[in-house]
Amino acid sequence: MTDLILTGGTIVHENGRETADIAITGDLISAIGAPGSLGNAGEIVDVTGHHIIPGAIDMHVHFREPGYTHKEDWGTGTQAAAMGGVTTVFEMPNTHPPTRSVVEFQKKQDCAKKACVDFGIYGLLAEDNIDEIDGLIAAGANAFKCFMGNTFGNLPSPSTGAMLEGFEKIAASGLRISLHAETASIMAWRQAKLEAAGLNDPLYHIAARPEVVAIEAVARAAILAEWTGARIHVLHISSAGELRPLAEAKARGVDVTGETCPCYLFLDSRDYDRLGSIIRVNPPVREEKDSIAIWDALQTGIVDMIATDHAPHTPEEKKNDVIWQADCGFPGVETQMPLMLSEVAAGRMTLEHYVKISSANPARAFGLWPMKGRLAVGAHADIAVLDLARKEAVQAARLHSRGKVTPFEGRETIGAPVHTLVRGQFVQRDRALVSDMAGHGRQVTAIQNMPEAKPVNTDMTLAHLLGDTA
Ligand code: DOR
Ligand code: ZN
Repeated sequence: MTDLILTGGTIVHENGRETADIAITGDLISAIGAPGSLGNAGEIVDVTGHHIIPGAIDMHVHFREPGYTHKEDWGTGTQAAAMGGVTTVFEMPNTHPPTRSVVEFQKKQDCAKKACVDFGIYGLLAEDNIDEIDGLIAAGANAFKCFMGNTFGNLPSPSTGAMLEGFEKIAASGLRISLHAETASIMAWRQAKLEAAGLNDPLYHIAARPEVVAIEAVARAAILAEWTGARIHVLHISSAGELRPLAEAKARGVDVTGETCPCYLFLDSRDYDRLGSIIRVNPPVREEKDSIAIWDALQTGIVDMIATDHAPHTPEEKKNDVIWQADCGFPGVETQMPLMLSEVAAGRMTLEHYVKISSANPARAFGLWPMKGRLAVGAHADIAVLDLARKEAVQAARLHSRGKVTPFEGRETIGAPVHTLVRGQFVQRDRALVSDMAGHGRQVTAIQNMPEAKPVNTDMTLAHLLGDTA
């Protein structure tokens, strides 16, 4: 017996659209067919006039638990996701404690039990946990995160030597390594000098982290990935400059993907005056020419996906006259979809392309395809139902995240997810959270349907040289 039919909507895939009904049985899409042709169901929901897309898959959120639950926890974070049409998130390891050992990984899995959307958990790749990597893989890490540059939590960035050994170890698993690609030593050097000179205005944040920090880091990580065969992902692409080493690495056959986030598409240096320290994020929001180049790269496929770097902080932590004292980042998982749909409404991107960059591409890159990232029989019924004409304005006070400061405050949007379903269950309905869905979210299984990992230079890995080849 079919549990649910969504009838009357327009299903939008990455490569086209159709007017069709969707039947859901249990976790899965059980049929797609002409309007009215799918028979009866436990419930039939009329979504006439709405568009139906696969829920967004956000590879980059900070839900802060354990350790910083005054900023967010897995309950509030995943509720914000549900409100934002996001059905799967991958959560970052700069919690307290960081997710750098099996014990800490299991602790995070425990925290995640209250999730209402599906999730992956990143393991950390750092200087001091190389010996934990095999254990983290066995414990079910969905991907790894490497902070090449410092940011919230101040986890020391690994030396290039430690990174290389980490890449060697992770390569064979096929798991992707996501990089905070900014080079720590350049930033520390510059920030110390700027700070010592008393240069405390928001724009000096860009001066401390000019785009060369990202260019150098992307190029270096790509070389290590090429040498080891590790798969990598460049997080939060912020500059025109880093697109060149990214494109070159792709052209050389390095398995590298890239993401950007709404702040790098919608904001630039002209917004620093108005927003003050609120705009502080790592990497920084840069110049208009950077946004233009990133938009272009998102259209051509050099940048593969949109994520959010959802990074909630309190107003006290965000607002500071001394830019170096303000915490970096802001919530995003709830606002990404309305912000991007507004650009679809403006004709800047097709809805099909949005499906590709928000869902299909992340699913493929992180091994969730074919169960996620598409609307097809047999796939998970992870769905966002859209009202493309719905007008809203971003209001931080009304966000479901605990983070109530956003640089998009007051920004008007056109288009919003009016229902969100995770594996067949409504988690958001008619722009309101569905209660009692805590615990519905499940950790995803990585990795499915990806080409086999191809480690290279295996005779030179430290494990091989030291005889630890088990
Ligand atoms: O601005 C940022 N905030 N960038 C990051 O990479 C981390 C994040 C956080 O955790 O607050
Ligand atoms: Zn981040």
